[in-house]
Amino acid sequence: GELVVAIDGPSGSGKTSVSRAVARRLGLAFLDTGAMYRALTWYCLDSGLDLAAATAAADEKLASDVVEAAVELPLIMGLDPEHETVEVDGQDITAVIRDPRISAAVSAVATNTAARAVLVERQRRLIEQTGRRVVAEGRDITTVVAPDATARILLTASPEARMGRRGHQLGGTQTDADLHRQVVQRDARDSTVVDFMTAAAGVTTVDSTELDFAQTVDAVIDV
Ligand code: CDP
Repeated sequence: GELVVAIDGPSGSGKTSVSRAVARRLGLAFLDTGAMYRALTWYCLDSGLDLAAATAAADEKLASDVVEAAVELPLIMGLDPEHETVEVDGQDITAVIRDPRISAAVSAVATNTAARAVLVERQRRLIEQTGRRVVAEGRDITTVVAPDATARILLTASPEARMGRRGHQLGGTQTDADLHRQVVQRDARDSTVVDFMTAAAGVTTVDSTELDFAQTVDAVIDV
């Protein structure tokens, strides 16, 4: 039967790796919507869009260019939890979309309301394509993309825990100031558009601050 698990949360909460493990355990497809925002960011930069444009006039032009890029984005998302693949225009960009260069630019895309609407539509279609047997994770899955999901979870952790995890993930190459920018500041910016710091009505919060990976997966499966 139908089983849609919607998981939202801030960066470094472990939501991508936890969600993937939950999908494996339950035999479900896996949709990483953050990878779609990252893929669009990569595509914009690859097309020569200056996502850091600063003047108001440049901002307006940029915003419509980003929407256009979202509409034409030649994206193929893999939905297999055993094997993540993100392909744009025939290029495998699975690894490169995790670069700090993409993380630094992604807010310009994620705060564009019209571009979001285009990606949300694609995400809903992908969920339908799985026969509604999927773990979908992001920032607005429980509230916008799939508010009708079978299970709705907000995965949180303290800012310290989240910066620590992201630092570990990037191989200890980042300074504390870098991590603060990449985790706390980006979340502050992004959460002005979508509130993923507080659970909406009907959404269960799982706080992973004091839990290890396996315990977090178990807590989500319990919900
Ligand atoms: O690296 P991190 O886990 O923080 O982010 P991600 O899940 O890979 O998402 C990349 C970016 O896309 C973040 O800046 C999110 O705010 C944004 N995003 C979004 O706006 N809505 C989603 N459903 C998923 C991600």
